[in-house]
Amino acid sequence: MERSRAPEISRDESVRRAYATDASGLVLVPDGVARPASAEEVAALLAESTSTGTPVTAAGGQTSTTAASICDRGILLSLRAMQRVIDIDPDARTARVEPGVLVGELKRACAAHDLLFAPDPTSEEECTLGGAVACNASGARSFRYGATRPHVRALRVALADGSIVDLRRTTLEKNTVGYALAHDPVDWFVGSEGTLGVIVEAEVALLPLPEQVVGLAIPFATELDALEFVVAARESGAVHPRCLEFFDVLALAIAREAEESTGWAVAALAFVYVEEVPPKGTDPALDEWLALAEAHGAIVDDVRVYEGETALREARRVRHAVPAHMNERGAAHRAHGGRKVSTDWAVPYQYLAHAIGRARALADEAGIEQAVIYGHAGNGHPHQNFIAEDAGALACIERVVEATLREVIALGGTVAAEHGIGKIKRKWLPLQMSPLQVRTMQAVKRELDPAGILAPGNVL
Ligand code: LAC
Ligand code: ZN
Repeated sequence: MERSRAPEISRDESVRRAYATDASGLVLVPDGVARPASAEEVAALLAESTSTGTPVTAAGGQTSTTAASICDRGILLSLRAMQRVIDIDPDARTARVEPGVLVGELKRACAAHDLLFAPDPTSEEECTLGGAVACNASGARSFRYGATRPHVRALRVALADGSIVDLRRTTLEKNTVGYALAHDPVDWFVGSEGTLGVIVEAEVALLPLPEQVVGLAIPFATELDALEFVVAARESGAVHPRCLEFFDVLALAIAREAEESTGWAVAALAFVYVEEVPPKGTDPALDEWLALAEAHGAIVDDVRVYEGETALREARRVRHAVPAHMNERGAAHRAHGGRKVSTDWAVPYQYLAHAIGRARALADEAGIEQAVIYGHAGNGHPHQNFIAEDAGALACIERVVEATLREVIALGGTVAAEHGIGKIKRKWLPLQMSPLQVRTMQAVKRELDPAGILAPGNVL
């Protein structure tokens, strides 16, 4: 059999520029763009690149907020053309897919079999499955279902040397063979941001579609009431949230605009969006939600209920409007070195109100404009979105973010709960990881990619 050839590399300026941006606000123009149609083409490209020492950065939908899927050195390897849902097995509840399929498309294909692919990054209509696996993407519903990692059963990966390996998660219940970090090679690649290999196929686990989902938007007169409500909902056994999302007053204003409902809950200074998924065969716990809301000072007369697929999709659209609006605002300042700065730190959920208070105080002390704060409060995981209008403002915001991250770490939190490290957050990785942990990651990287061609600048 003839060995597959590496795909053609486009050096065309307009093609290179078409792959130069993501949701990070940076513009990095690659030297060339490769758009392979098969795993074999990917492998051939990697073999060739290792022998010539050419960097290769894999990319899917390029929705990364950390510049993980853009590069200004070597080849941008776009996997969008490999976009087949190869197989959905309703009995085994698994799907086999190529990396370029959009997460939203995969979800619809699964829903046709009454099955759910659970990870729900906000960008699911623009991001690819391969990107979601490579960045261990998560979203609002990760509160119930976890991030992408636990849903990955098996991976086919093209390695830097041009070989292709098939990896399947172990189902062992007990195992004392060797170091835990080598037990499940699938885990090496989930969240590796393209630095250890290129995912060319994935098998993912599916869940039964929930029978009933009801969304509730619950307004509050104060931010603290809303955050205390989130903790109470998380600890209550009477309600069954699959997401617990918080929106501060600035995020509320964006959502109102997106919904064209400027008159909704005018007295509110924050709101919480939840989705109730009752256990099979039981009714949604709506009375319990309302009682819990009332006990925490919610403006219960203005609670909004979203029932049915169309209404839930609308709730999701409005939710998505918050980061999308902020991305647009940030992009407007690109020419002057400005951009949106998005944090994705998290703390143990009980400390969220305290951490948000400290984050706001640090911004005030530095004299910068308060961020829009919204997101996954049920996991102690908000997003602060700042807008830097120029390079000077950016540096100032980053100093405030770093000071916030130090406090977050002291509370037992993380500098990046959701968006990964990419190129933008690399400077903050040592706040959380010890030199020993970093050296161990470097050793793994050297073993799998000795020439250092894969996604240079991401993570390490
Ligand atoms: C969100 C993405 C930006 O929560 O993480 O909208
Ligand atoms: Zn998020």
